[in-house]
Amino acid sequence: MTEEMKALVDKLEQTGNLEDSEFKAVLTYEDPEFNSYLNERARAVREKHYGKDVYLRGLVEFTNYCKNNCLYCGIRAGNTNAERYRLTEDEILECADEGYDLGFRTLVLQGGEDPFYTDEVLVRIVKGIKERHPDCAVTLSIGERSKESYQMLHDAGADRYLLRHETASKEHYEKLHPENMSFDNRMRCLKDLRDIGYQVGCGMMIGSPYQTTDDLIKDLRFIQEFKPEMLGTGPFIPHHDTPFKDEKQGTTEMTVRILSVIRLMLPTVLLPATTALGTVDPMGREKGILAGANVLMPNLSPSGVRKKYLLYDNKICTGDEAAECIKCLAGRVQRTGYRIVQSRGDHVDFVK
Ligand code: SAM
Ligand code: FES
Repeated sequence: MTEEMKALVDKLEQTGNLEDSEFKAVLTYEDPEFNSYLNERARAVREKHYGKDVYLRGLVEFTNYCKNNCLYCGIRAGNTNAERYRLTEDEILECADEGYDLGFRTLVLQGGEDPFYTDEVLVRIVKGIKERHPDCAVTLSIGERSKESYQMLHDAGADRYLLRHETASKEHYEKLHPENMSFDNRMRCLKDLRDIGYQVGCGMMIGSPYQTTDDLIKDLRFIQEFKPEMLGTGPFIPHHDTPFKDEKQGTTEMTVRILSVIRLMLPTVLLPATTALGTVDPMGREKGILAGANVLMPNLSPSGVRKKYLLYDNKICTGDEAAECIKCLAGRVQRTGYRIVQSRGDHVDFVK
């Protein structure tokens, strides 16, 4: 590793910022020693704020119906081969109870954009979880909605909202989505969520079709400006029933590099090592943790539906029971030198 490249990592750590040309150098430099140094500094920063703690989020994938047609996504409306399912309100509450008993203090309700779940239904579900488990945080990840809807759900008790921006380049966005989806509306949603007072998560796929290094730099600039409390990023992985079935998947190396860069830019961000990262590489989640990630999101969905929430091919952990998943993850985390903790794991700015 050259002294210049090492100095860029140090500058990023000290200032949280780089020039575009410097970001480009950091994202494209090929040298294992450099990668190790970047990961090491990212770990040092995460340990300063979060010690060795890794937070768990129990993910309930409650519907795979979706009215959208994102070109990359396996549960897009146009995929007539997807076997569709919806969990009932009772089933969702049962997942929450099971998650609570297993020690989760954050539940993430994720799904396609499914009009079946109206504001009224969702408010009832969020309230139901909060009444049973007031010490549990509820995160929603249910796509684009009106500001009024986001407000109602926040009033009902939802604490956090994950809505990946997918790409900060409008031009790139339009290559990943059909014409009736709009970059500006996605951005409007993120702004509304922020204004309402959610802890907000944005994020992008790494290696999505047509993505350039300049697009990734735009993502970093957007992240820098938006300052999300959470950041979800994982490799793009093709799904065989989508228009992108023959595209290349994103790499572990680039995903891990981006995780470290984001940790250095936003020292306190809540940053998951995603299931997609664990799918492209059997040690992906460990590598993510060792690159500065501090969150894992094991699946709490009933095992009967897990194989149906297939956003991409070869998704891992679709057969295990939730309790088994936690045991497996706890071992994996322990072997990296970190530890899973039972806590809501709020962003430091939101700790009450
Ligand atoms: N419908 C909600 C939304 O749009 O935010 C939440 C569900 S959506 C499936 C969750 C995320 O999965 C997307 O934001 C996208 O980044 C990711 N995703 C979808 N297809 C993927 C693929 N083929 N490879 C990797 N990630 C994918
Ligand atoms: Fe709607 Fe993927 S296209 S969740």
